[in-house]
Amino acid sequence: MRYGYFDDDSREYVITRPDTPLPWINYLGCQAYFGLISNTAGGYSFYRDARLRRVTRYRYNNVPFDMGGRYIYLRDEQSGDFWSPSWQPTCRELEDYRCRHGMGYSIIGARYRDIEARTRYFVPLDENLEIWQLSITNLRSWPAPLSVFSSIEFCLWDAQDDATNFQRNFSIGEVEIEPGIIYHKTEYRERRNHFAYFACSAPVAGFDTQREAFLGPYRGWDRPLAVERGSASNSVAHGWAPIGSHHVKVLLEPRETRQIIFLLGYHENPVEQKFDPPGSQIIHKASVRPVIAKYLNRSHADLAFQALRSYWCDLLSICQVDTPDVHTNRMVNIWNPCQSMATFNLSRSASFYESGIGRGLGYRDSTQDLLGFVHMVPARARERILDLAATQLPTGGAYHQYQPLTRRGNNDIGGNFNDDPHWLIVGVAAYLKETGDWSILDEPVPYDNQPGTEQPLYEHLQRSFRYTLERLGPHDLPLIGRADWNDCLNLNCFSDSPGQSFQTTTNKDGKVAESVFIAALAVLTGREMAAIAAHRGKPKEAAAYAEEATLMERAIRAHGWDGQWFLRAYDDFGRKVGSAECEEGRIFIEPQGFAVLAGIGLEDGLAAAALDSVYQLLATEHGIMLQQPAYSRYYLHLGEISSYPPGYKENAGIFCHNNPWVMIAEARLGHGDRAHDYYLRINPSAREPISELHRCEPYVYPQMIAGRDAPTHGEAKNSWLTGTAAWNYYAITQWILGIRPSYDGLEIAPVIPAGWPGFRATRKFRGTTYYITARRAGSGNQVSLIVDGGSVPGNIIPLASNPGTHVTVEATVS
Ligand code: BGC
Ligand code: NOJ
Repeated sequence: MRYGYFDDDSREYVITRPDTPLPWINYLGCQAYFGLISNTAGGYSFYRDARLRRVTRYRYNNVPFDMGGRYIYLRDEQSGDFWSPSWQPTCRELEDYRCRHGMGYSIIGARYRDIEARTRYFVPLDENLEIWQLSITNLRSWPAPLSVFSSIEFCLWDAQDDATNFQRNFSIGEVEIEPGIIYHKTEYRERRNHFAYFACSAPVAGFDTQREAFLGPYRGWDRPLAVERGSASNSVAHGWAPIGSHHVKVLLEPRETRQIIFLLGYHENPVEQKFDPPGSQIIHKASVRPVIAKYLNRSHADLAFQALRSYWCDLLSICQVDTPDVHTNRMVNIWNPCQSMATFNLSRSASFYESGIGRGLGYRDSTQDLLGFVHMVPARARERILDLAATQLPTGGAYHQYQPLTRRGNNDIGGNFNDDPHWLIVGVAAYLKETGDWSILDEPVPYDNQPGTEQPLYEHLQRSFRYTLERLGPHDLPLIGRADWNDCLNLNCFSDSPGQSFQTTTNKDGKVAESVFIAALAVLTGREMAAIAAHRGKPKEAAAYAEEATLMERAIRAHGWDGQWFLRAYDDFGRKVGSAECEEGRIFIEPQGFAVLAGIGLEDGLAAAALDSVYQLLATEHGIMLQQPAYSRYYLHLGEISSYPPGYKENAGIFCHNNPWVMIAEARLGHGDRAHDYYLRINPSAREPISELHRCEPYVYPQMIAGRDAPTHGEAKNSWLTGTAAWNYYAITQWILGIRPSYDGLEIAPVIPAGWPGFRATRKFRGTTYYITARRAGSGNQVSLIVDGGSVPGNIIPLASNPGTHVTVEATVS
């Protein structure tokens, strides 16, 4: 069953009934001001950091789930009837309800008793504000007197404190009110030099800024007293819960359409210019007024929307494909890059599932997210790489996360995740291959943000790699530390206290438990380091890295191969994890995907055996499970992984992030059918017809789909912010379609399904546009290239000597 449809020409998903199984959301903003918005206009906004600069509130653990947002109420002045064109929060029965989620904008609205109302929500480029453009049309044949009420609830900035510290918070809320503009200035009197505003383009009949006055006692957002009564009470918030609501009266003639614009924004003043007049407590508004005036003007708002559309059009044009499969096309051309933009910006910090108060930007997450983003805005990828590297510790180790506002690492959920350092190498290698900007390696970058400790980025990469070599265990495999990619495989934790954090508790000295996954990762990064060193003209260093990778591969072959698949780890007692010897958790997906992806066993059958085991033991119609059999009980020596009921999350869930590793591995073995089959199993668009089971949005990847052991097998959870976005994009574009940036040029190496006659693609790369036609002429994966009419040996198109040109590529696959 479907809840809407894809409108690929408009690059939108159109939701046609509001009661989707979960809130189906979209992201507004792609630079510094962000909001998330559900199909019923729920959600919240923030400036840079969802924890420290929250503009509007999110009510955690609410019922219904998605309540509180950017609500508009319409009231029929003749009948007193009122409704919300976004369905929530009044939940009246609407006609022609539609929510169009597009690239950085959402248009939500409906018809009710012949009044049509739709609101376009978006964040203009380079501005710290969101625009709501409400259009109301009277479809009746008589005049319609209406009242419009807007509403938002301000957060008192620090979202964590806002949700808990009521003894203080109920006394500090402050606002300033001018005709049509409500300023939220809690704590502006002391150490904050920022405030929020909510402005309206139409003359207002009234306003409210105190929640209780607007809603009325014992009422929720579904029937605010002010709306029911038809008049605001001009309340001024002193403490309690500051909100913003404008009341606008309109009289619409038959067929008349009226547009009202609301702006919700964030603004900072220089510390010395906070107040006007100086010495007063009144916000200095000289710099914000022109911004507000500009976007309350319809033509400016329309221009800003057009600019956003063309911005996305340009971003998406960098890689466009035309394959025989609609789900591939739609995800690659539209939604997967859109999701990758969100994960690049927010890592795992702010969605409906990541409440924005728990995590900053993860180190391992942000470095991997680059894989899906680097081609879109390389300059921002560069900046992110340097920011991340600046949080690196002098040991080469990493903080597990950092706060986007301060750009500082923090230990809130621990450090010593021994895989973390390697991902910097993965991210930088992707950047170098995409851009050829070798200068980044010479950038001086500090350690732990300490001035005076600067070293070239290249040295950071070297320390990242050395970190592992200095921490090898009894089998010469890397010690796992707190955990590796699988945060929940906590082999040194041994926690027996309820509620204790698995992420920060360590009861073992960590000298025994080893990770085969990190070993495979180190094989990959060792070979990347060798290639990077070779390109920098350092053959000795290159040889040393290649040698380290070989030694690591040897250790994997000696101690990390279980007979039919790669072992997962050794625990603190030196016992095997992920072995046929184990009662539960006999086979894990991570080392199978990653070892093969790193090139291990491609020639001698290990890779094929490992992947066959995955196929036999882990693959389901809904994707590949993380391990089997699921852990049926809590194991002290395994930690959080065994805390989850079987089939969920890391305990044998289909953890989508690592499925593309297997797709890439299959592609490396030349198995195009299997690679693409796996791709489709978790492809959200391909799962659209089973939306009532899948439940998450059909246009973005979720973190997890319940595994076979779960009673809800096939049900997805935690949409949007997941490493799945970047990795799937990378798998399908670079390994299945095989359009792969390399150090020396664009490589073309498709490993596509046998039944595909071929595909076409356009790829902009290092200043040149490549028009690629791949044609199947045989059943293998042998590629021969004709570039601009001439045949080229191998499958790398040499870099164009004259960038800016168009290059035609014909690839024959036989
Ligand atoms: C989740 C992991 C997550 C970790 C760190 C765990 O509870 O299952 O997926 O990475 O927390 O926040
Ligand atoms: C989600 C975390 O953000 C990511 O870093 C981790 O690799 C996966 N969970 C698996 O545990």
